[in-house]
Amino acid sequence: MAKTAPHPVHPGETGTPAANQSGAVLNRDAFAEAKDFLPLDGIDHVEFWVGNARQASAYFRALWGFTPVAFSGLETGVRDRASYVMQQHDIRIVLTAPLTPDGEIAEHVRAHGDGVRDIAFAVQDSAAAWRETTARGARSAIEPVELDGGEDGILRRSAVWTYGEVRHSFVDRRDYHGVFAPGYRKVRKPAAAAQGLSLLEVDHCVGNVGLGDMDRFVDYYRDVFGFAQLIHYDDKVIHTDYSALMSKVMTNGSGRVKFPINEPATGKKKSQIQEFLDWYHAPGVQHVALRTEDIVGTVRRLRENGVEFLGMPHAYYESLADRVGDVGVPIDTLEELGIEADRDEEGYLLQIFTRPIQDRPTFFFEIIERHGSRGFGVGNFKALFEAIELEQARRGNL
Ligand code: FE2
Repeated sequence: MAKTAPHPVHPGETGTPAANQSGAVLNRDAFAEAKDFLPLDGIDHVEFWVGNARQASAYFRALWGFTPVAFSGLETGVRDRASYVMQQHDIRIVLTAPLTPDGEIAEHVRAHGDGVRDIAFAVQDSAAAWRETTARGARSAIEPVELDGGEDGILRRSAVWTYGEVRHSFVDRRDYHGVFAPGYRKVRKPAAAAQGLSLLEVDHCVGNVGLGDMDRFVDYYRDVFGFAQLIHYDDKVIHTDYSALMSKVMTNGSGRVKFPINEPATGKKKSQIQEFLDWYHAPGVQHVALRTEDIVGTVRRLRENGVEFLGMPHAYYESLADRVGDVGVPIDTLEELGIEADRDEEGYLLQIFTRPIQDRPTFFFEIIERHGSRGFGVGNFKALFEAIELEQARRGNL
């Protein structure tokens, strides 16, 4: 199994960088620079490998409002794994657990705990996507296959590796009309999902890689996938008194797929990225941001359902109005719910981060509501990292 992706290396040119007032470097030419040899129709699904998929599916249903739409496992003739497909608007999450003590899923869970295995792209031609990427240096994870769904048609897929043990599948559904994939069956009478949530689509997926590896994977997404660099945050931007990290955001040409890549930077204490790497025991997906158009209602409901979020200090909200102006929600409401706000030249955004959703301090979710801003909340980074450091200290990991 590939532990790391191959890495064609070209010293990076980043278009015409423009430093904004926060110190982040935004590349306004990114969308034009991205190459179109790999047309992506967005993110088809995100698959987690977990210890207990049945219970994980109940968590996503009862707390997050996802509806179970498809299942595969013993009852569908699959003997080594159970998978639940959870859907909310355009977000599809697949939860897969091992049924046997051996094999790649059990090994993955033993090493990493629960975590993201696959960020799958929706494509028009999965064989072409595989050919284009492997010809440019990607290591194949699944060669192009046609999965025969009988009267439901044929689903075509392939996959390549990226950082750590994460892979990108290419899923072509043009000739397939069945439930999620051949081998799955529809969940006929799903238990009621939590109501009042409006999570619409995956906004971005963030990868944590080892010290010194960020540029390698920036090059990888540029050379292999044709992505371009949208923003660069260095450790002068993302630091507190104690720790730091560096981040570059890669985007495809349509802007529908955005992948920030983080690496730890040295500080007096341990970077949150290093904490992730120590507990995940590999590079991996740190967080997935889910876009909503009703962050207030959605976060209120998530909190009622028991989802835990990072807390922000009162001082953050005292200065918020001066920094961001009117963001359509009273500051008191933002503080009550722990929602953060940020503004840049293009508009503003509202965002909030959960605590890690599994026992290990690894993966978490972000909820984001955008009003013009295509950024990632750089104005919140310092306060946010201080909040994370408080939790790291409680865990004995700072
Ligand atoms: Fe994010």
